[in-house]
Amino acid sequence: MTKIVSFIIQKGGCGKTTTTVNTAGYLSLQGFKVLCVDMDPQGNMTQHFGYDSEMLDATILDLFNKKRTLDEVILHRDQNLHLLPNNLRTAGAESELQKRPDRDYLLRDSLLTGISSYDYVLIDCPPTLGLFSVNALATSGEFVLVVSPEFLPMKAIKPLYETFRTVKYQLNHTLQFNGIMMTMCDFRTRHSQEVLEILKRNFPQKLYHAFIRNNVSLKEAAAYGQTIFEYSPQSLGAFDYQNFAEEFIRDHHKNRSKRKYYQDTFDRLTKEEKHQILMIAKNNLSAYVRSNLEKIPGSKVIKESLRIERNKILENLFPYRIHAKLEQQQ
Ligand SMILES: Nc1ncnc2c1ncn2[C@@H]1O[C@H](COP(=O)(O)OP(=O)(O)OP(=O)(O)O)[C@@H](O)[C@H]1O
Ligand SMILES: [Mg+2]
Repeated sequence: MTKIVSFIIQKGGCGKTTTTVNTAGYLSLQGFKVLCVDMDPQGNMTQHFGYDSEMLDATILDLFNKKRTLDEVILHRDQNLHLLPNNLRTAGAESELQKRPDRDYLLRDSLLTGISSYDYVLIDCPPTLGLFSVNALATSGEFVLVVSPEFLPMKAIKPLYETFRTVKYQLNHTLQFNGIMMTMCDFRTRHSQEVLEILKRNFPQKLYHAFIRNNVSLKEAAAYGQTIFEYSPQSLGAFDYQNFAEEFIRDHHKNRSKRKYYQDTFDRLTKEEKHQILMIAKNNLSAYVRSNLEKIPGSKVIKESLRIERNKILENLFPYRIHAKLEQQQ
Protein backbone atom coordinates (compact mmCIF):
# COMPACT_ATOMS: atom_id res chain seq x y z
CA MET A 1 0.00 0.00 0.00
CA THR A 2 1.32 3.46 -0.87
CA LYS A 3 2.04 5.72 2.11
CA ILE A 4 1.38 9.38 1.36
CA VAL A 5 3.12 11.74 3.76
CA SER A 6 3.28 15.56 3.82
CA PHE A 7 6.19 17.45 5.37
CA ILE A 8 4.71 20.68 6.56
CA ILE A 9 5.00 23.87 8.63
CA GLN A 10 3.76 27.29 7.58
CA LYS A 11 7.05 28.99 8.39
CA GLY A 12 9.79 29.41 5.79
CA GLY A 13 13.27 27.97 6.11
CA CYS A 14 12.62 25.25 8.71
CA GLY A 15 14.03 22.43 6.60
CA LYS A 16 10.91 20.95 4.96
CA THR A 17 12.45 20.68 1.51
CA THR A 18 15.78 19.40 2.82
CA THR A 19 13.93 16.78 4.86
CA THR A 20 11.67 15.64 2.02
CA VAL A 21 14.57 15.36 -0.44
CA ASN A 22 16.92 13.48 1.88
CA THR A 23 14.29 11.18 3.35
CA ALA A 24 13.28 10.30 -0.21
CA GLY A 25 16.95 9.87 -1.14
CA TYR A 26 17.52 7.41 1.68
CA LEU A 27 14.29 5.47 1.12
CA SER A 28 15.07 5.08 -2.57
CA LEU A 29 18.56 3.78 -1.74
CA GLN A 30 16.91 1.19 0.49
CA GLY A 31 14.96 -0.08 -2.51
CA PHE A 32 11.67 1.68 -1.83
CA LYS A 33 10.03 3.30 -4.81
CA VAL A 34 9.39 6.95 -3.99
CA LEU A 35 7.46 9.73 -5.68
CA CYS A 36 8.30 13.24 -4.44
CA VAL A 37 5.65 15.90 -4.97
CA ASP A 38 6.78 19.51 -5.04
CA MET A 39 3.70 21.43 -3.85
CA ASP A 40 5.66 24.66 -3.45
CA PRO A 41 5.60 26.98 -6.48
CA GLN A 42 9.03 28.22 -5.39
CA GLY A 43 10.15 24.90 -6.91
CA ASN A 44 12.86 24.43 -4.29
CA MET A 45 12.56 20.67 -4.22
CA THR A 46 12.64 20.52 -8.01
CA GLN A 47 15.89 22.50 -7.91
CA HIS A 48 17.30 20.47 -5.02
CA PHE A 49 16.96 17.40 -7.21
CA GLY A 50 19.06 19.16 -9.85
CA TYR A 51 16.40 20.42 -12.27
CA ASP A 52 16.09 23.97 -13.55
CA SER A 53 12.53 24.63 -12.45
CA GLU A 54 11.98 27.39 -15.01
CA MET A 55 13.00 25.18 -17.94
CA LEU A 56 10.52 22.38 -17.37
CA ASP A 57 8.48 20.97 -20.19
CA ALA A 58 5.51 20.28 -17.89
CA THR A 59 4.71 20.85 -14.22
CA ILE A 60 2.16 19.89 -11.64
CA LEU A 61 0.04 22.82 -12.89
CA ASP A 62 -0.49 21.03 -16.22
CA LEU A 63 -1.74 18.09 -14.23
CA PHE A 64 -4.14 20.26 -12.22
CA ASN A 65 -5.39 21.80 -15.47
CA LYS A 66 -5.70 18.35 -17.04
CA LYS A 67 -3.44 19.36 -19.94
CA ARG A 68 -1.00 16.52 -19.27
CA THR A 69 -1.21 13.07 -17.71
CA LEU A 70 0.67 11.99 -14.61
CA ASP A 71 3.12 9.98 -16.73
CA GLU A 72 3.85 13.00 -18.89
CA VAL A 73 4.70 15.22 -15.92
CA ILE A 74 6.66 12.87 -13.66
CA LEU A 75 10.44 13.13 -13.95
CA HIS A 76 12.42 9.93 -13.45
CA ARG A 77 15.42 11.09 -11.46
CA ASP A 78 16.50 7.49 -11.11
CA GLN A 79 14.87 4.11 -11.07
CA ASN A 80 13.40 4.44 -7.57
CA LEU A 81 13.11 8.18 -7.22
CA HIS A 82 10.56 10.12 -9.22
CA LEU A 83 9.45 13.74 -8.99
CA LEU A 84 6.36 15.78 -9.73
CA PRO A 85 8.00 19.16 -10.39
CA ASN A 86 6.70 22.64 -9.75
CA ASN A 87 7.60 26.22 -10.62
CA LEU A 88 6.41 29.80 -10.33
CA ARG A 89 3.81 29.37 -13.06
CA THR A 90 1.68 27.61 -10.45
CA ALA A 91 1.83 30.66 -8.16
CA GLY A 92 0.50 32.79 -11.04
CA ALA A 93 -2.40 30.39 -11.52
CA GLU A 94 -3.34 30.14 -7.84
CA SER A 95 -6.25 32.59 -7.96
CA GLU A 96 -7.75 30.76 -10.96
CA LEU A 97 -7.35 27.40 -9.22
CA GLN A 98 -9.01 28.87 -6.10
CA LYS A 99 -12.20 29.43 -8.09
CA ARG A 100 -12.58 25.79 -9.06
CA PRO A 101 -15.16 23.73 -7.19
CA ASP A 102 -12.65 20.87 -6.92
CA ARG A 103 -9.91 23.20 -5.63
CA ASP A 104 -9.17 21.20 -2.46
CA TYR A 105 -8.76 17.93 -4.32
CA LEU A 106 -6.60 19.02 -7.26
CA LEU A 107 -3.66 16.92 -6.09
CA ARG A 108 -5.68 13.99 -4.83
CA ASP A 109 -7.59 13.69 -8.11
CA SER A 110 -4.35 14.01 -10.10
CA LEU A 111 -2.77 11.12 -8.22
CA LEU A 112 -5.89 8.99 -8.04
CA THR A 113 -4.72 6.50 -10.62
CA GLY A 114 -1.06 5.89 -11.14
CA ILE A 115 0.62 5.93 -7.74
CA SER A 116 0.00 2.33 -6.72
CA SER A 117 3.49 1.28 -7.83
CA TYR A 118 5.11 3.62 -5.27
CA ASP A 119 5.88 2.63 -1.70
CA TYR A 120 6.00 6.24 -0.58
CA VAL A 121 4.67 9.54 -1.90
CA LEU A 122 6.41 12.38 -0.02
CA ILE A 123 4.97 15.87 -0.38
CA ASP A 124 7.00 19.03 0.22
CA CYS A 125 4.64 21.83 1.31
CA PRO A 126 5.03 25.58 0.84
CA PRO A 127 5.46 27.84 3.90
CA THR A 128 1.80 28.89 4.01
CA LEU A 129 -1.44 27.18 4.98
CA GLY A 130 -3.15 28.14 1.72
CA LEU A 131 -4.54 26.17 -1.19
CA PHE A 132 -1.45 24.06 -1.86
CA SER A 133 -0.91 22.92 1.72
CA VAL A 134 -4.60 22.11 2.08
CA ASN A 135 -4.33 20.04 -1.13
CA ALA A 136 -1.33 18.22 0.30
CA LEU A 137 -3.19 17.41 3.53
CA ALA A 138 -6.35 16.41 1.69
CA THR A 139 -4.26 13.85 -0.23
CA SER A 140 -2.07 12.52 2.60
CA GLY A 141 -2.50 9.64 4.97
CA GLU A 142 -0.34 11.48 7.45
CA PHE A 143 1.86 14.48 7.97
CA VAL A 144 5.12 15.30 9.73
CA LEU A 145 5.78 18.70 11.29
CA VAL A 146 9.25 19.98 10.53
CA VAL A 147 10.36 22.33 13.28
CA SER A 148 13.59 24.26 13.69
CA PRO A 149 14.42 25.38 17.22
CA GLU A 150 13.21 28.93 17.00
CA PHE A 151 10.33 30.73 18.55
CA LEU A 152 8.30 31.32 15.36
CA PRO A 153 7.96 27.71 14.19
CA MET A 154 6.76 26.86 17.68
CA LYS A 155 4.05 29.48 17.36
CA ALA A 156 3.10 27.99 14.00
CA ILE A 157 2.15 24.65 15.51
CA LYS A 158 -1.20 25.73 16.98
CA PRO A 159 -2.76 27.21 13.80
CA LEU A 160 -1.40 24.27 11.85
CA TYR A 161 -3.07 21.88 14.27
CA GLU A 162 -6.35 23.74 13.74
CA THR A 163 -5.96 23.42 9.97
CA PHE A 164 -5.31 19.71 10.46
CA ARG A 165 -8.54 19.32 12.45
CA THR A 166 -10.52 21.20 9.80
CA VAL A 167 -9.03 19.25 6.89
CA LYS A 168 -9.52 15.97 8.71
CA TYR A 169 -13.12 16.83 9.49
CA GLN A 170 -14.12 18.32 6.16
CA LEU A 171 -11.85 16.86 3.48
CA ASN A 172 -9.91 13.80 4.56
CA HIS A 173 -11.11 11.68 7.47
CA THR A 174 -8.16 9.36 7.35
CA LEU A 175 -5.48 12.04 7.87
CA GLN A 176 -3.18 11.29 10.82
CA PHE A 177 -0.63 13.38 12.68
CA ASN A 178 2.49 11.24 12.28
CA GLY A 179 4.99 13.23 14.33
CA ILE A 180 7.32 16.16 14.82
CA MET A 181 10.92 16.19 13.76
CA MET A 182 13.50 18.79 14.70
CA THR A 183 15.99 20.13 12.21
CA MET A 184 18.91 22.57 12.36
CA CYS A 185 19.52 21.73 16.03
CA ASP A 186 22.49 22.91 17.97
CA PHE A 187 22.12 21.52 21.46
CA ARG A 188 25.09 23.52 22.67
CA THR A 189 22.71 26.48 22.69
CA ARG A 190 20.24 26.81 25.52
CA HIS A 191 17.54 27.78 23.07
CA SER A 192 17.67 24.46 21.16
CA GLN A 193 17.46 22.59 24.45
CA GLU A 194 14.52 24.68 25.63
CA VAL A 195 12.60 24.06 22.41
CA LEU A 196 13.34 20.34 22.67
CA GLU A 197 12.02 20.30 26.25
CA ILE A 198 8.82 22.12 25.24
CA LEU A 199 8.20 19.68 22.39
CA LYS A 200 8.92 16.67 24.61
CA ARG A 201 6.50 17.96 27.21
CA ASN A 202 3.71 18.77 24.77
CA PHE A 203 4.11 15.91 22.29
CA PRO A 204 5.67 13.05 24.24
CA GLN A 205 4.39 10.39 21.83
CA LYS A 206 4.91 12.36 18.66
CA LEU A 207 8.46 13.68 18.79
CA TYR A 208 10.95 11.74 16.66
CA HIS A 209 14.00 10.58 18.62
CA ALA A 210 16.17 11.33 15.60
CA PHE A 211 16.94 14.99 15.00
CA ILE A 212 18.92 16.84 12.37
CA ARG A 213 21.89 18.93 13.42
CA ASN A 214 23.16 22.02 11.68
CA ASN A 215 25.40 20.80 8.92
CA VAL A 216 26.74 22.85 6.07
CA SER A 217 26.96 19.81 3.75
CA LEU A 218 23.16 19.81 3.62
CA LYS A 219 23.21 23.33 2.23
CA GLU A 220 25.97 22.46 -0.24
CA ALA A 221 24.15 19.32 -1.42
CA ALA A 222 21.12 21.51 -2.26
CA ALA A 223 23.32 23.88 -4.25
CA TYR A 224 24.76 20.94 -6.22
CA GLY A 225 21.31 19.51 -6.95
CA GLN A 226 22.03 16.34 -5.02
CA THR A 227 20.75 14.46 -2.00
CA ILE A 228 23.11 14.33 0.95
CA PHE A 229 23.71 10.63 0.25
CA GLU A 230 24.99 11.50 -3.22
CA TYR A 231 26.91 14.62 -2.24
CA SER A 232 28.52 13.61 1.04
CA PRO A 233 27.51 10.20 2.39
CA GLN A 234 30.05 10.49 5.23
CA SER A 235 28.73 13.81 6.53
CA LEU A 236 26.86 14.46 9.76
CA GLY A 237 23.86 15.44 7.65
CA ALA A 238 23.81 12.01 5.96
CA PHE A 239 24.15 10.31 9.36
CA ASP A 240 21.26 12.32 10.83
CA TYR A 241 18.94 11.83 7.86
CA GLN A 242 19.70 8.11 7.80
CA ASN A 243 18.68 7.95 11.47
CA PHE A 244 15.51 9.88 10.83
CA ALA A 245 14.55 7.85 7.77
CA GLU A 246 15.18 4.57 9.62
CA GLU A 247 12.87 5.70 12.42
CA PHE A 248 10.32 6.86 9.86
CA ILE A 249 10.32 3.44 8.14
CA ARG A 250 10.21 1.52 11.44
CA ASP A 251 7.28 3.58 12.55
CA HIS A 252 5.40 2.70 9.40
CA HIS A 253 6.15 -1.01 9.64
CA LYS A 254 5.13 -1.08 13.28
CA ASN A 255 1.98 0.94 12.73
CA ARG A 256 1.04 -0.99 9.63
CA SER A 257 1.26 -4.40 11.26
CA LYS A 258 -0.43 -3.20 14.46
CA ARG A 259 -3.19 -1.55 12.50
CA LYS A 260 -3.67 -4.58 10.29
CA TYR A 261 -3.89 -6.87 13.31
CA TYR A 262 -6.60 -4.79 14.98
CA GLN A 263 -8.46 -4.08 11.76
CA ASP A 264 -8.55 -7.81 10.93
CA THR A 265 -9.67 -8.56 14.49
CA PHE A 266 -12.39 -5.90 14.24
CA ASP A 267 -13.57 -7.21 10.89
CA ARG A 268 -13.93 -10.69 12.34
CA LEU A 269 -16.15 -9.51 15.23
CA THR A 270 -19.81 -10.46 15.07
CA LYS A 271 -22.49 -7.87 14.38
CA GLU A 272 -23.43 -7.91 18.07
CA GLU A 273 -19.85 -7.29 19.15
CA LYS A 274 -19.54 -4.39 16.73
CA HIS A 275 -22.77 -3.00 18.10
CA GLN A 276 -21.38 -3.33 21.62
CA ILE A 277 -18.36 -1.22 20.60
CA LEU A 278 -20.68 1.42 19.20
CA MET A 279 -22.55 1.46 22.51
CA ILE A 280 -19.33 1.85 24.48
CA ALA A 281 -18.50 4.88 22.33
CA LYS A 282 -21.98 6.26 22.88
CA ASN A 283 -21.91 5.76 26.64
CA ASN A 284 -18.54 7.51 26.93
CA LEU A 285 -19.26 10.10 24.32
CA SER A 286 -17.49 13.14 25.70
CA ALA A 287 -14.24 11.23 26.30
CA TYR A 288 -14.52 9.55 22.89
CA VAL A 289 -15.16 12.72 20.91
CA ARG A 290 -12.05 14.21 22.54
CA SER A 291 -10.10 11.03 21.65
CA ASN A 292 -9.49 10.44 25.34
CA LEU A 293 -9.55 6.66 25.14
CA GLU A 294 -7.72 6.03 28.43
CA LYS A 295 -10.95 6.83 30.26
CA ILE A 296 -12.97 4.31 28.26
CA PRO A 297 -13.35 0.82 29.68
CA GLY A 298 -12.76 -2.27 27.61
CA SER A 299 -10.20 -4.70 26.29
CA LYS A 300 -7.31 -3.74 24.03
CA VAL A 301 -9.24 -4.91 20.97
CA ILE A 302 -12.18 -2.69 21.90
CA LYS A 303 -9.90 0.30 22.52
CA GLU A 304 -7.95 -0.17 19.29
CA SER A 305 -11.18 -0.70 17.36
CA LEU A 306 -12.52 2.52 18.83
CA ARG A 307 -9.35 4.27 17.71
CA ILE A 308 -9.00 2.77 14.24
CA GLU A 309 -12.68 2.81 13.37
CA ARG A 310 -13.20 6.28 14.89
CA ASN A 311 -14.46 7.97 11.72
CA LYS A 312 -16.90 5.19 10.94
CA ILE A 313 -18.16 5.09 14.53
CA LEU A 314 -18.57 8.87 14.77
CA GLU A 315 -20.38 8.98 11.45
CA ASN A 316 -22.63 6.26 12.76
CA LEU A 317 -23.32 8.21 15.94
CA PHE A 318 -23.65 11.62 14.28
CA PRO A 319 -24.73 11.10 10.67
CA TYR A 320 -26.14 14.63 10.51
CA ARG A 321 -22.79 16.26 11.45
CA ILE A 322 -21.03 15.21 8.26
CA HIS A 323 -23.94 16.21 6.03
CA ALA A 324 -24.41 19.56 7.77
CA LYS A 325 -20.74 20.39 7.23
CA LEU A 326 -20.82 19.42 3.58
CA GLU A 327 -23.93 21.49 2.97
CA GLN A 328 -22.34 24.49 4.67
CA GLN A 329 -19.39 24.18 2.34
CA GLN A 330 -21.43 24.13 -0.86
N1 LIG B 1 20.31 20.85 9.09
C1 LIG B 1 20.69 21.88 8.33
N2 LIG B 1 21.89 22.46 8.50
C2 LIG B 1 22.27 23.52 7.74
N3 LIG B 1 21.52 24.06 6.78
C3 LIG B 1 20.29 23.53 6.57
C4 LIG B 1 19.82 22.41 7.32
N4 LIG B 1 18.57 22.10 6.88
C5 LIG B 1 18.29 22.98 5.90
N5 LIG B 1 19.32 23.83 5.71
C6 LIG B 1 19.37 24.97 4.77
O1 LIG B 1 18.45 25.94 5.27
C7 LIG B 1 17.74 26.55 4.20
C8 LIG B 1 16.25 26.33 4.38
O2 LIG B 1 15.97 24.93 4.30
P1 LIG B 1 14.75 24.37 3.44
O3 LIG B 1 14.73 24.99 2.10
O4 LIG B 1 14.80 22.90 3.51
O5 LIG B 1 13.54 24.93 4.33
P2 LIG B 1 12.00 24.97 3.95
O6 LIG B 1 11.25 24.79 5.23
O7 LIG B 1 11.69 24.05 2.85
O8 LIG B 1 11.85 26.48 3.45
P3 LIG B 1 10.57 27.09 2.65
O9 LIG B 1 9.49 27.14 3.63
O10 LIG B 1 11.02 28.43 2.18
O11 LIG B 1 10.25 26.16 1.53
C9 LIG B 1 18.30 25.91 2.92
O12 LIG B 1 19.33 26.74 2.43
C10 LIG B 1 18.88 24.59 3.40
O13 LIG B 1 19.96 24.16 2.57
MG1 LIG C 1 10.81 24.41 0.99
